Amino acid sequence: MLELGIIASGSGSNAQAILDAVASGRLAARVRVVISNRPDAGVLERARKSKIPAVCLDHKDYSTRNIFDTALVATLKEHGVDTVALAGFMRMVTPVLLDAFPGRVLNIHPALLPAFPGTHGVADAHTYGVKLAGCTVHFVDAIMDHGPVIIQAAMPVLTDESVEALQARILETCEHRVYVQALQWLAENRLSTHHRTVHLAPADKPHLTVPNALFSPPLEI
Ligand code: GRF
Repeated sequence: MLELGIIASGSGSNAQAILDAVASGRLAARVRVVISNRPDAGVLERARKSKIPAVCLDHKDYSTRNIFDTALVATLKEHGVDTVALAGFMRMVTPVLLDAFPGRVLNIHPALLPAFPGTHGVADAHTYGVKLAGCTVHFVDAIMDHGPVIIQAAMPVLTDESVEALQARILETCEHRVYVQALQWLAENRLSTHHRTVHLAPADKPHLTVPNALFSPPLEI
């Protein structure tokens, strides 16, 4: 069972997918707290609706990243968190956070890393003219969008698809599924990392197939 803290800056559709998966029993986790660095972030309202503690730590109130991350760690620890899911958190994290939760900070990025890291992953991939788009869930290290890859989901870009439509489809078709899957694998203690490669220990579960997406490894929930 994961004791999960979610940190997000935006609307929080990934956070919602995690909350829904916990509520329906697909993810063995308790969401202990949702933290945002933006007072007006939709994710805080989503947390309140689910009766989860919702905390705003406005980064503008902290003079350095280290001091901000110290406050993040204190809030996460106060709520009994052992695993941190960054879900659209638009700030670099520091070793202050990473060292407090070694090997237990995850992030989702809306592109097939190492292609198109950074804050405009979908737009950059769209402008580049890629034929496959998707997302990556990875362990977080001190470099942006860089840590070991847990799972990636890919799907074809449609002819004449706008960047907004592509972004929405990546969220719904890929992100909301694979983040829950990666967290469930962590909850089952099946992930191990050697150098940069994350291995998944087998389990006696049938693989589900997911329409319109190529998953590697296949989804199991
Ligand atoms: C997602 O595309 C995520 O991959 C990226 O930020 C976006 C957050 O979306 N890091 P949401 O707030 O979860 O809807």
